[in-house]
Amino acid sequence: MKDIVVSGIRSTGNLHLGNYYGALCNFVKMQEESNCYFFIADLHALTTHPDPAMLHENVKNILAEYLAAGLDPEKSTIFIQSDVPEISQLYLLMNMHVGIGELMRTASFKDKARKQLHLDTHANESEDAIEKEIISDTSKNRVNAGLLTYPTLMAADILIHKATKVPVGKDQEQHLEMTRRFARRFNSVYGVELFPEPTSYNFGQASIKVPGLDGSGKMGKSEGNCIYLCDEEKVLRKKVMRAVTDEGPQVPNSPKSEPLENLFTLLKIVSTPDVVSYFEEQYNNCSIRYGDLKKQLAEDILKTTTPIRERILDIRSNDEYLRRVVAQGAERARESAARTLAEVRKVMGFKAF
Ligand code: TRP
Repeated sequence: MKDIVVSGIRSTGNLHLGNYYGALCNFVKMQEESNCYFFIADLHALTTHPDPAMLHENVKNILAEYLAAGLDPEKSTIFIQSDVPEISQLYLLMNMHVGIGELMRTASFKDKARKQLHLDTHANESEDAIEKEIISDTSKNRVNAGLLTYPTLMAADILIHKATKVPVGKDQEQHLEMTRRFARRFNSVYGVELFPEPTSYNFGQASIKVPGLDGSGKMGKSEGNCIYLCDEEKVLRKKVMRAVTDEGPQVPNSPKSEPLENLFTLLKIVSTPDVVSYFEEQYNNCSIRYGDLKKQLAEDILKTTTPIRERILDIRSNDEYLRRVVAQGAERARESAARTLAEVRKVMGFKAF
C-alpha cells in the first residue's frame, strides 16, 4: 500500500528559500511515490493573521508558489484547507477528547500567547504569570481560542486523510506527537482502529536547514534574513550583498564565525562542490573577499529562483488555471475527508433518523 502523505503551509506570507529546500523539494519528490495531499492552511493563518484584505491574496500567492516549485495537481491533491469543511467538523469532534491543559502546555501556544499578550519573550515570565494573564478578565489582550486549539486543527488536517507520513520541520515535531496521541486516544476511547499514527518524515537524510542572512538562526519571515522565491533579481542581489559577515579570517584555517558558517551553508545548498571548495580554500589561506563570495552566492541562488519566479508570475496571472486546480483539489480532498468523517460520526454514535 502506498503511503498517505499530508502536509501544509500556513498562508502568512510568501515562500522563501527555507520553505523551498526544507519543505517543497521534499513534497515534489514524495508526490512520485506516495498518495499526497498538500494544502494551504488558511484557517491556521487566521490564528495570527486575521486580515480580510490579505486572506485571499496570501492563499493565491502560496498556491502559485506551490505549483511553480513543481507540485503537480495531476500527481498530488493540492487544496485549500477552508475548501474542505469536513476538516473543521473533525476538528470540532476531536476537541471533545483534547484537554485544555495539554493544549496550554504546547510550546508553540506559549510562544504565541506571550506575543499576543505583549509579554517579553526574554524576560522569563513564569508559566503561572502567563496563565493568570490569559484568564484574567482585565486583560486587554485576548489570546484567541483558535491559537489554543491549533494542534487539534492540525491533527484534523492529518487524520482526516488517515495520513501515515507527514513531512514537517523540527518545529512541528511536538504538534505531530500530539496528533499521534489524539489518534491513539480516539481509537482507544471507541475501541476502534480508525486512525493510523502518522510519523514525521524527512526525505532520507536529516532535513536541510537553510540559514538566514542576518548572521544567526534559520531563514524565517523576519526582514533582512529572508530570500523569497518571488524576489526580483535586483532585490535578491542586494539582500545577499548585505548579508552579515565578520572582519575576515586573521590566521590560516581559523574556525568560522556563525554568519560565515551560514553563508557557506547556503553556498553548499545552491552551488557546485568546486565552487564551495574554492571559497573554502580562500577562507583557509585568508585571501577570501567576502564580496566575491556573496556575488557568487547571489548568482547561484538566482539560477534556482529565476525560473521559479518566472513560473510564479505566469501562474499567478492565470486565474482560469488556478480555479481549475483548486476545484479539482477540493473535490478529491473532500472525497477522502468525507469518507473518514462518516466513519468518525458512526463510531461516535451519530445516526440518521
Ligand atoms: N503547523 C504547520 C506549520 O506552521 C502547518 C500545518 C498546518 C501543517 N496543518 C498541517 C503541516 C498538517 C503538516 C500537516 O508549519
